[in-house]
Amino acid sequence: MINEEVEIVEKTKTILEGIARKRENLIPILQCIQEEFGYLPSSVMLEVAQFLNLPDIDVYSVATFYNQFRLTPPGKHSIRVCMGTACHVKGGQITLAAWQRRLKIGPGETTPDHEFDIDTVACVGCCAMAPVTVVDKKVEAKADPTRVDGILLNYQLQREKEEKEKN
Ligand code: FES
Repeated sequence: MINEEVEIVEKTKTILEGIARKRENLIPILQCIQEEFGYLPSSVMLEVAQFLNLPDIDVYSVATFYNQFRLTPPGKHSIRVCMGTACHVKGGQITLAAWQRRLKIGPGETTPDHEFDIDTVACVGCCAMAPVTVVDKKVEAKADPTRVDGILLNYQLQREKEEKEKN
C-alpha cells in the first residue's frame, strides 16, 4: 500500500512537470491524473492544490462538481446505466435502483471487493434496446431488474470458474 502511494506521488510529479502553475490548468491536470490512475486519489488532489497554490477545498469542489471525475478506484467491471430519455421512459431509474440494491453501492462508487463500479451515462445510441446498461463496454439490452440478476449471476459463475482453475 505504501509503495502504491509512493508510486502515485511520483507519477503525479511527472504529470505536473512542465505544466504552468495556473488556476485554469486545474481541470486539464485532473483529467490527466484520472487518465493515469482511473480516478482522483485524495493525496493527489492535495498535491495539485499545493502545486497550483489553491485551497484544498477548491480542488475537491471541482472534482466533485464534474461527474467526469471519480473519487474512488474503478472496479474490475464497469456498470454504466443509461439515463437518456428513451431509457428513462422505459424504466432506467428502476434498472439503476436494481444495480444499486444488488451491489449495495451508488453511482460513482466501487464495491468493497473492487469487482464492480456503477455510474450513469447519457444516451449510448441504442435507444431501441432501452433500458440499456453497458457492462464492460458490452451493451445489455432490455436491462430490467431480472436481466440485472442474470448478468450478475453470469459474472459470479465466471468468477467461481476462475477461482477453481487457480486452485
Ligand atoms: S437513451 Fe439509452 S440508449 Fe438512448
